[in-house]
Amino acid sequence: MPTPGKTLISTPQIRKRVKILAREITRHYRGKPLTVVGLMNGSLFFLVDLLRELPVETRIECWRLKSYQGTRSTGKIQGLDSCGDDYSGRHVLIVDDILDTGLTLHEVTKKIRGLNAADVRICVLLDKQVPRKRDVTAHWTGFQIPNLFVIGYGLDLDHQYRTLPMIRVLPS
Ligand code: IMP
Ligand code: MG
Repeated sequence: MPTPGKTLISTPQIRKRVKILAREITRHYRGKPLTVVGLMNGSLFFLVDLLRELPVETRIECWRLKSYQGTRSTGKIQGLDSCGDDYSGRHVLIVDDILDTGLTLHEVTKKIRGLNAADVRICVLLDKQVPRKRDVTAHWTGFQIPNLFVIGYGLDLDHQYRTLPMIRVLPS
C-alpha cells in the first residue's frame, strides 16, 4: 500500500521536539513523585519516546479510552470507569496524542483530581486549533496544528495508520 496522505510533521522533527519536551518535563518534576498516565492507544509512540528520556523513578500507567469513530468525535468517552488508582501525593502528568475538542482531557483531569493527586498536568504531542468544547490547556505541547485530521505516530483512522513514523494529513 502506498503511504497515504502528505507529511505534516516529519520523524526528525518529532524526535527533536520530544527530546526538548522531556528535558523541560524532567526539570519541572525534579524532586517530585511523578506518575505518567498515558492515554491509549493514540499516545503509544509519543508516550514511549518521551518515557525513555524521563528519570528512573517515574511511574507509568496506561488508560485505555475511546471517543472517536472514523474522523469524528462521538462526544462520549468510553473506558473511563475501569481506569484509576489512588494517586495520593503523586504529581500526575497525563500524556495524550492530540488535544481536539478537549472532552477527553477534561474528563481524565477531573477523574485524576478525584483520585487525590497532588497535582495534575497535561502533555500532548499535538494541539489542534479548533474551538474547544471544554476549556483545557496543555502544560506542554509538541506542535500546534491547523484543523485537519491527522494520522501516524500513534494516531489512527479506524485503527489504521498508527505505525507510520511521522504525522500525515489525509486528503479531505
Ligand atoms: P478530544 O476529546 O476531542 O480532545 O479528542 C481527543 C482524542 O480524539 C485524541 O486522543 C485522539 O485519539 C482523537 N483524535 C482527535 N483528533 C484526531 C486526529 O486528527 N486524528 C486521529 N485521532 C484524533
Ligand atoms: Mg486518543
